[in-house]
Amino acid sequence: MADDRKLAFAPFATPAKGVLIMFCEEGLKFGPASRKALAPTGDLVQRAAADDRFTGKSGRGLDIVAPAGLPVARLVILGVGKAGKLKAHDFVKLGGAAMGKVPTSAGEATIFAELVGGALKPDQAAEIALGTQLRAYVFDRYKTKRKEGDEPKASPQITIAVANAAAARKAWEGAHQPVADGVIMARDLINEPANVLYPEEFARRAGALKKVGVAVEVLDVPAMKKLGMNALLGVGLGSRRDSRVVIMRWNGGKKSDAPLAFIGKGVCFDTGGISIKPAAGMEDMKGDMAGAACVVGLIHALAARKAKVNAIGAIGLVENMPDGNAQRPGDIVKTMNGQTIEIINTDAEGRLVLADVLHYVNTKHKPRFMIDLATLTGAIIVALGQEYAGMFSNDDRLCDRLTKAGLATMERVWRMPLGPEYDKMIDSKFADMKNTGGRFGGSITAAQLLARFVDKTPWVHLDIAGTALGSPQNDINKSWSSGWGVRLLNQLVADHYEK
Ligand code: BES
Ligand code: MN
Ligand code: ZN
Repeated sequence: MADDRKLAFAPFATPAKGVLIMFCEEGLKFGPASRKALAPTGDLVQRAAADDRFTGKSGRGLDIVAPAGLPVARLVILGVGKAGKLKAHDFVKLGGAAMGKVPTSAGEATIFAELVGGALKPDQAAEIALGTQLRAYVFDRYKTKRKEGDEPKASPQITIAVANAAAARKAWEGAHQPVADGVIMARDLINEPANVLYPEEFARRAGALKKVGVAVEVLDVPAMKKLGMNALLGVGLGSRRDSRVVIMRWNGGKKSDAPLAFIGKGVCFDTGGISIKPAAGMEDMKGDMAGAACVVGLIHALAARKAKVNAIGAIGLVENMPDGNAQRPGDIVKTMNGQTIEIINTDAEGRLVLADVLHYVNTKHKPRFMIDLATLTGAIIVALGQEYAGMFSNDDRLCDRLTKAGLATMERVWRMPLGPEYDKMIDSKFADMKNTGGRFGGSITAAQLLARFVDKTPWVHLDIAGTALGSPQNDINKSWSSGWGVRLLNQLVADHYEK
């Protein structure tokens, strides 16, 4: 990934060709290097801005093709509004917006990383770089034909001009590139079709994390049988593809520190099983492993930037298919911790997978906390739409921290309720519990089932059905899968668990 990325940091200099991108603050105010580079153009920018009523407001841009006085093909000015207010994520977005101004036919683009106050800090320049790389992502590996006007395979060479290029490169390589790679890894996994990415293949790809120093352990079907993971295994019964659980471990902290645990739902395809889903839109269920993909991307990011923390990633990989061997409504399964679940609807499969993985991680690794991510319910999309993920938890402090990390990364979470009145709704006539709680509060009753498998460990469940798939398009994402959660959880770890 890092190899085919064309990204460089260099001192300020007017490029000989391609696209030159500068930022300007409200009132058409530029930084010193930009002013110097624009000197040969006279009042060109002022005249163009007046004609376009461009004043440097945030979100607006000015495109000047073949700017007289400059050797470049195109000069782009991006408004940032009042720069005093800019936070880390604003620079990421600016990088994305800048990349959006680079025509795909352009061979190269140079971004002047400065504001009125002068060159950006190395971290800020690296945040711009992160934005360019997330924006540039396309999943086109299955396109064999290219029409005229289609995006060329080769992406433009991007140069970030900044005062201290070496420090910016160091910030990029040490902190931001690992995150960019993690997000892109997650997006790739989610976009991949289910005939290619089935549990065993997913496990193989997670094995690539060994290259960055992660210990990867794979549980196959006999191993899971031995452990008694019958809820997870029950979901996979109708599939020709064997189920897997993958445990990734990054040890960057002290030996004695309990690990942070991240758990992902990895349903490589969800037909609904015997309670089969309607045909319309079912193709999206190739993305029902987005939680697992996020966990892999996150563990990659933590390991690649050598985070000073111990972290576990655990993913339950299954395929939910209808078949003569598939489990039926009415079936009762016994989970790894000895509780019994009556299957009411085979389409409520994610919670069955997570129940066993949560219990396994909790008892085997005694984590400091557990955070699970799952495209668990359609109901969370009805409740929150696609901007916020649903957050369910037994721990207020962890919720506060995640809420703040969400606002910092704009991967936002909204807390939903849990409680004994909801818990009752999944009591079963025949078993300890049933896997659905009826029409009302569907996301909550799903979370209540998970809560029965986490004991007293601080735990958060993130229902990402709305945020992970068919993601809203924005400055830093043009992909069907956003890779939601990698940046959020990386921020949480960086803010609180590496000291
Ligand atoms: N994977 C789905 C949830 C989902 C729906 C994710 C839409 C992304 C987009 C999950 O396994 C499921 O089918 N949930 C059911 C639960 C119901 C049967 C209780 C649902 O939400 O309808
Ligand atoms: Mn389902
Ligand atoms: Zn599902």
